[in-house]
Amino acid sequence: MRQATVYIDREALQYNLNRVKQLAPTAQIVSMVKANAYGHGVKDCLAALSGTDAFGVACLEEALEIRELGYQQPITLIEGIFSEDEMQVVIENNIECIVHHQQQLDWLRAHKQAYIGKNLKVWVKLNSGMNRLGFKVPEIIDVINSLKAEGFTCVLAMHFANADADHPLNEQQKSQFLQVKEACAPIMGSCCNSAAIYKWPELNFDFVRPGIMLYGASPFADRSAHDLDLKPVMTFTAEIIALNHIQAGEHVGYGSTFTADKEMDLAIVSIGYGDGYPRAFPKQNYVAINGQETRVIGRVAMDMIAIDVTGIDAPIGTEVELWGKNRLVDDVAEANGTIGYELLCRLSARPIRK
Ligand SMILES: Cc1ncc(COP(=O)(O)O)c(C=O)c1O
Repeated sequence: MRQATVYIDREALQYNLNRVKQLAPTAQIVSMVKANAYGHGVKDCLAALSGTDAFGVACLEEALEIRELGYQQPITLIEGIFSEDEMQVVIENNIECIVHHQQQLDWLRAHKQAYIGKNLKVWVKLNSGMNRLGFKVPEIIDVINSLKAEGFTCVLAMHFANADADHPLNEQQKSQFLQVKEACAPIMGSCCNSAAIYKWPELNFDFVRPGIMLYGASPFADRSAHDLDLKPVMTFTAEIIALNHIQAGEHVGYGSTFTADKEMDLAIVSIGYGDGYPRAFPKQNYVAINGQETRVIGRVAMDMIAIDVTGIDAPIGTEVELWGKNRLVDDVAEANGTIGYELLCRLSARPIRK
């Protein structure tokens, strides 16, 4: 059987959740489990996240999956509902909405009694300069104050565009958030994703919304998961299925893009872009064998890659770590010109999941 495998380490997930608790001890934790728990498999992850206060997802279907699996914690739809008919289902299933435009407010008000009757919070989204979702200042102040006057319990919500970096917009976003929070006091607040949880403990407020850090990857380009004391949750492996000894001048793989400059041993590993392993690597990429890194050579194909095993004891059947505890997903992503989030989310259905 082909052994391309995704292992999920539930203890690592619990460890990372505890890291959130250490960093934001007074806030409630809304664990972001959208996109199938960042590609890790929502079912496995929910079981390991029993210590969380709530879940965050991107759409009603993701929220209903959590309810169908039997979890009763609050759930927030971080983009709200997409049409009015979803409101009934939201209320029946105790799901909370973000509102970020007038139509969503109208839908909410049309179902006001039922929504309030279930004690569901309304998350009102501030657009403080990211310019994706939300009401701007000063409109949001009127929106929140009217909702409060109508009996809704509100949470002021915002998302940073550059929490992972030093950017002048950070100060604008922070100050607008604080301005609105003061103008609408008393009101609960939520603006921290993983990077912000690390960088701005003073902004943790009532609810933090960690995503990537739960899965043991880094939100920062210049700080690794190890630096942040996070444990990688996903280990992605495949097996060596063939060995070749080649001479200087011989080529490897499609396009013959790799030419050996000396005699070498190479191994063929049963993994490819058909599994979600990326194809384009502008920079040299590596895999790990028993903790030792070795380079990937030639092009990634749909089902196979070639790696350099010169001087490495790696017979057929050897397990190769594509990413995990030794070869961090963020480093693979960096070589691929992307971020760990994307690689984790875009695995295909083909690898076996354990
Ligand atoms: C609104 C919102 N909050 C929190 C998060 C979690 O972010 P991160 O995975 O960087 O912690 C996301 C992720 O995209 C988000 O969209």
